[in-house]
Amino acid sequence: MIAVMFTLQKKEPDVYTDTMIRGLCTSLFSAGTDTILADTEWAMSLLLNHPAALKKAHAEIDRCVGTSRLVSAEDLSRLTYLQCIIRETLRLYPAAPLLLPHQSYADCKIGGHTIPSGTMLIVNVYAIHRDPNMWEDPMKFKPERFEDGKAEGLFMIPFGMGRRKCPGEAMALRTIGLVLGALIQCFYWNLVDSVEVDMTERGEEFVIHKAVPFEALCKPRAPMYDVLKRL
Ligand code: HEM
Repeated sequence: MIAVMFTLQKKEPDVYTDTMIRGLCTSLFSAGTDTILADTEWAMSLLLNHPAALKKAHAEIDRCVGTSRLVSAEDLSRLTYLQCIIRETLRLYPAAPLLLPHQSYADCKIGGHTIPSGTMLIVNVYAIHRDPNMWEDPMKFKPERFEDGKAEGLFMIPFGMGRRKCPGEAMALRTIGLVLGALIQCFYWNLVDSVEVDMTERGEEFVIHKAVPFEALCKPRAPMYDVLKRL
């Protein structure tokens, strides 16, 4: 990407300045790392507190991928329960719970309210994803709600929508799928002293993080020893 930017800089130096290129790289790094980290940590925490879901994910990976190799990007579309776990995590803990602030450039009406141009609009995705009028048991972690297209038509926008929607969505879903898939495939996971993982949110930043970092006990799964040794 940087190479492309430098090529463009030769043609349009006033647009593609060093500052602009540096700014773009910085925003990609910050937008692409903290978000994925936060949602992977939430997903692991949810799984530790819901061992039946973890067991089901283990079984699915064993059935679809086996134990002779690591889960790969090509496997992800077949790991439908893993996808449900990721979607349910993004519903409960959308990494950017208020999206990014938007500003109306023209007068408009939203839900009968007149919004003058230049107004900052903040979308509370966190509240939308937990709306009891839309979701059954909205506070419960139930990946099954996404199975067999059951949640089709239900409004979920962890990556925003429209022209300024997150451009990293596909990369994020693939990365979370691979990391989560490999962690489930390679290890047995257990709570520390049988105490449930603390799900308190830190809450004061743009990205929703855990107040208490994720801690768990893990042990390599015997059938995966060979794969782990080759890493
Ligand atoms: C779980 C992971 C991620 C989540 C939940 C997430 C969520 C979001 C959200 C909600 C927005 C604002 C959309 C809006 O206001 O309508 C956004 C914007 C953005 N995201 Fe992501 N994101 C994730 C991962 C990534 C990754 C991996 C990248 C790139 C490598 C990335 C790059 C960006 C950029 C550049 C923007 C600004 C887009 C613009 O303003 O036009 N994000 N993301």
